[in-house]
Amino acid sequence: MISLTRTGIGVLAGFFLLLLSQCGTADSPASPSSGAGKAPSQAAVQRAYTMKCSLCHGTDGRLMASKAPDLSKSTMSIEERVAIIAYGKGTMPPQKGILDPAIIRGIADYVGTFQDAK
Ligand code: HEC
Repeated sequence: MISLTRTGIGVLAGFFLLLLSQCGTADSPASPSSGAGKAPSQAAVQRAYTMKCSLCHGTDGRLMASKAPDLSKSTMSIEERVAIIAYGKGTMPPQKGILDPAIIRGIADYVGTFQDAK
């Protein structure tokens, strides 16, 4: 009986050690990837801009196709840009539910660099 309990404790201890070690290994790869999910890379933002926006606005915001305004002349704030990208306006298609919110914010930030006033 005594030896059985000891094995039981041993198994339990081993189980806890396993849990602990799994916590350790699960933590380390998760932290950099969750960080990346919060702030998309500039490359991912520019790729999304090229695919979703350059058609009308061009790579520098000045193309003005499909009645699109010149983004270098825009005076919109970042919050206004986030809103128009998310909800669209006129012929400009909404991106909410299509692009990740973090990407939308990244693009809003990126097109802000086109503004002459900055
Ligand atoms: C089908 C063409 C088209 C596409 C694609 C498009 N837009 Fe537009 N965009 C427009 C038009 C048209 C307007 C003007 C809307 C209005 O005021 O009626 C506009 C307006 C804007 C404005 C506001 C400028 C201002 O100061 O009034 C911003 C910022 C903008 N677009 C950014 C983007 C971004 C970023 C994307 C990609 C996610 C995008 N657009 C995709 C056509 C487009």
